[in-house]
Amino acid sequence: MRIDVLSLFPDFIRQCAQVGVVGRAVERGLLTVEPWNPRDFATDNYRRVDDRPFGGGPGMVMLPEPLSACLAAARAASALPARVIYLSPQGKPLTQAKARELAALPRLVMVCGRYEGLDERFIEKEIDEELSIGDYVLSGGELAAAVVIDAVGRLQAGALNDAESAEQDSFEDGLLDCPHYTRSESLGTEGVPAVLLSGDHAKIARWRRQQSLGRTWLRRPDLLEGRVLDKKDAALLAE
Ligand code: ADE
Repeated sequence: MRIDVLSLFPDFIRQCAQVGVVGRAVERGLLTVEPWNPRDFATDNYRRVDDRPFGGGPGMVMLPEPLSACLAAARAASALPARVIYLSPQGKPLTQAKARELAALPRLVMVCGRYEGLDERFIEKEIDEELSIGDYVLSGGELAAAVVIDAVGRLQAGALNDAESAEQDSFEDGLLDCPHYTRSESLGTEGVPAVLLSGDHAKIARWRRQQSLGRTWLRRPDLLEGRVLDKKDAALLAE
């Protein structure tokens, strides 16, 4: 998969593509992340990328011309068809289902805004989809783009090692994860639920499922709304 990112901070985007699971996916040739700086496509002497908004008011708005020229260059860099996404608090919320949908595409182009945002005419003309990573305001789209790169990058086939893939399955079904414990030198088995030390794998799986259901019910009841639990899960939750 290829991800192009239009950003005034290309170094930040480059860094994102170098760490952790995403860095490994890039090294394995499963993912390409390419930053593009709209400032490189500004045509005036000051390399301006923003201007005051019509109608007045505080803040600046990103000019459409450098963005359009930058996007055209990014599009032309590959023959792969691209979905063009603008990251903004006005977008649809990013969910795991959305991450899966995006991860299956051959190519994404993400546009990061700064200042008060982008000229609306650029959005209307060029943007396929607007995405938000949550109901709060960031000072730019870069951190949101980093979130999308991570969520989508780790879903590329072969990006995760086996152990990580197995772990992922538990969250994939829309429930919160169960608690985890490890062989701590200082704590030993203190505070570790006995079932995890029992060696009974069926019992352990049952306990984990129950914890996932219970935690979701307590911490994020919204995730269970409208969801019909199968008999087994309903019984575990009622226990
Ligand atoms: N840009 C600024 N705030 C944002 C948010 N919450 N999600 C995505 N992009 C943003």
